Amino acid sequence: MYRYFKNQYIQMMLYIDLAEKLRNILTMKAIRPGERFISVRALAQREGVSMPTAVAALRVLEGAGLIVARPRSGYFVAPQVPSGLAPTRIIPPAVPQDVSIEALALRLFSQREAIKVPFGAATPDASWMPQTALTQALQRVARRLSTQAIGYSYPPGDAVLRTKLAYRFALGGTAVGPENIIVTAGATQALSLALRAVCRPGDIIGVESPCYFGVLLLAQQLGLCVLEILTDPVTGIDVPSLAQICARHRLAAVVASPRAQNPTGAVMPLHRRAELVSLLEGAQIPLIEDDLYGDLQETNAPNLPCKALDQSGLILHIGSISKTLAPGWRIGWIVPGRFYDRVLALRYQDSLGGSRLLETALADFMADGGYDRHLARFRERIGRSMEAIVARARGTFPPGTRLQPPAAGYLLWVELPVSVSALDVADRLSRENISVSPGPLFSPSGGFRQFLRLNCAIEPSARVFAALDRVGLICTESAKRL
Ligand SMILES: Cc1ncc(COP(=O)(O)O)c(C=O)c1O
Repeated sequence: MYRYFKNQYIQMMLYIDLAEKLRNILTMKAIRPGERFISVRALAQREGVSMPTAVAALRVLEGAGLIVARPRSGYFVAPQVPSGLAPTRIIPPAVPQDVSIEALALRLFSQREAIKVPFGAATPDASWMPQTALTQALQRVARRLSTQAIGYSYPPGDAVLRTKLAYRFALGGTAVGPENIIVTAGATQALSLALRAVCRPGDIIGVESPCYFGVLLLAQQLGLCVLEILTDPVTGIDVPSLAQICARHRLAAVVASPRAQNPTGAVMPLHRRAELVSLLEGAQIPLIEDDLYGDLQETNAPNLPCKALDQSGLILHIGSISKTLAPGWRIGWIVPGRFYDRVLALRYQDSLGGSRLLETALADFMADGGYDRHLARFRERIGRSMEAIVARARGTFPPGTRLQPPAAGYLLWVELPVSVSALDVADRLSRENISVSPGPLFSPSGGFRQFLRLNCAIEPSARVFAALDRVGLICTESAKRL
């Protein structure tokens, strides 16, 4: 098994290097958009690599949108993507920050019950979830477990569920066994366990800028300082900037979502993920890889998580079903690498265990491929809804707004004209029972003041469009108020 994954790793480094070489040729603009690109056979011959390695390298470029495959004709240089639509990269402060977003987060959370159109929540439309199949799994399992159904599932969690998760990891190219996984109460608990396992109060952690506010809330709770890392809204963490940070500060951990970021939807290209892993490994800094939206990237390109490249056990990989299946089941997991024992002890101390009924029901639901079929349908729906919402928003948001569908996931990161206060917009909309997430929620330094995050895993009904028009109108009014 180990040799198999080692060979896989060597193959992967080969095609990543090759993809990088080809990417340089493309960025030098040596070939024009629309022109035919090198064929698989010619590439394999020229570089002295196997055909599968050549195909994998070309797929990396395809996944990055640099080339397109045409059936039976080969690869062509992709038409140029219109620039100026993506939100801009904002350079974060170069010093560590104390976090104080708790009050803002609690104020926004407290409004949730009254909200009718939840653009602010990063949760999928319940009507898109396989309710019947989940209920059937619950009923089957309740009958099977009988009186045991009300019991704890002790850490590390249900063995069958961990086997199913390990199988999914293996299919995705990551060597993880059931014995490496700890089931948690959602990703929130997994993040908390990971941070507590590797940090002490007063430590500095590196986060994406902008980053998921839950990480900031945990940092505030645990007394950690936060250093924001320059992050591109399309391609994620800027690795050279992180290298500079590592040279100046001793980071206790970096928290990142390289396969699909919240709030931007950025996807780090595979070669950058490899650079990130090797930088952090060299500096012996743990990477907490929050991979909640990792299964939502729609591409044929290889999509390995950083965990697949982990050679020294320094990556704590986190997943959950909250964003893709059933947020209220509170099931997540962590693959803590060399921090396994510490995380397991903390998991016991935190809450003794999870729900036997729910963990077994999830294993049952995953058993016949139900989860993957659901994910395929879910991705399709997200694509349709995102397209409709982006098209509508382009017509109603104020001139100067920058938005484009995210590289992955269902969150839309919108940059409004600088005169807009996203906090004011959020407050005004909440009085109409519409939620949006304002930019400052995603930054310890209160940055991104004119940014909004919109949830697009929502059925684009007439009511939703009417609410979106209100968002556009209130942003336009705010833009005029200077
Ligand atoms: C990136 C990210 N990590 C973690 C979480 C928390 O997930 P869970 O509901 O599984 O605790 C969220 C929820 O929005 C998230 O977006």
